[in-house]
Amino acid sequence: MQCLVLEDHQSVSHYVAKQIRDQVTRKADSVLGLATGNTPEQVYALLVKWSAEDPALFSRVHTVNLDEYVGLAPEHENSYHHYMRAHFFSHVQISKERMHIPRGDSPSAEQECNRYEKTIQKLGGIDLQLLGIGSNGHIGFNEPGMALRMRTHVTDLDDRTLRDNVRLFKRQEDMPTKAITMGIGTIFQAKRIVLMATGKQKREALRKMMSGTVDPRCPASILQLHPNATVIVDRAAL
Ligand code: F6R
Repeated sequence: MQCLVLEDHQSVSHYVAKQIRDQVTRKADSVLGLATGNTPEQVYALLVKWSAEDPALFSRVHTVNLDEYVGLAPEHENSYHHYMRAHFFSHVQISKERMHIPRGDSPSAEQECNRYEKTIQKLGGIDLQLLGIGSNGHIGFNEPGMALRMRTHVTDLDDRTLRDNVRLFKRQEDMPTKAITMGIGTIFQAKRIVLMATGKQKREALRKMMSGTVDPRCPASILQLHPNATVIVDRAAL
């Protein structure tokens, strides 16, 4: 695992967006693993800007998102489908069939996990996976203490995750307590992983992640064993 320290959130975003653009330039039909959250918002803004200059840039990629809240339909304003449309999909040329996000409103979340995992495998796995990190060390919604080999599965959200993300919901009771997430086993198979983390609220998680030991209490620490993982952080996060 390599670590790169840049000045601030803006330079981290620019660097990460460039890694994604380079990946797509090298391989137009790349499978991109995408994340949501505050951290990658500027990355998407840059990708949208660059695709306005080169409209075919993303036209052949496939995208697979990390996760979705159980119970939320794609139209729900707090769903990750909605986030992706708002920040990326509505502004770039990618056909709908090439965008993949688990359906939170499936009648059977377990079946949806199997279907989603098969979709990723059928695409040949992920070429570049973009990750953020939770303040509790989660990646995707692989929460502390979970088995590190899992594939896409339903998970109970950790108390810390519920606290961190509740601000986005109008009422606390509207926030789902479960999510569908790619498992660590799925994420770990990505050919390349780029994790971005900025701000002092990520310091503790990063310290545990880079501690030198793999500890299920900090799921991101598994990335220390990945052959092609880069962690890009700003000074505030160190
Ligand atoms: C998002 C995801 C999460 C976030 C993490 C950090 O799809 O899987 O692991 O990357 O919770 O979120 P932010 O960027 O909001 O701090």
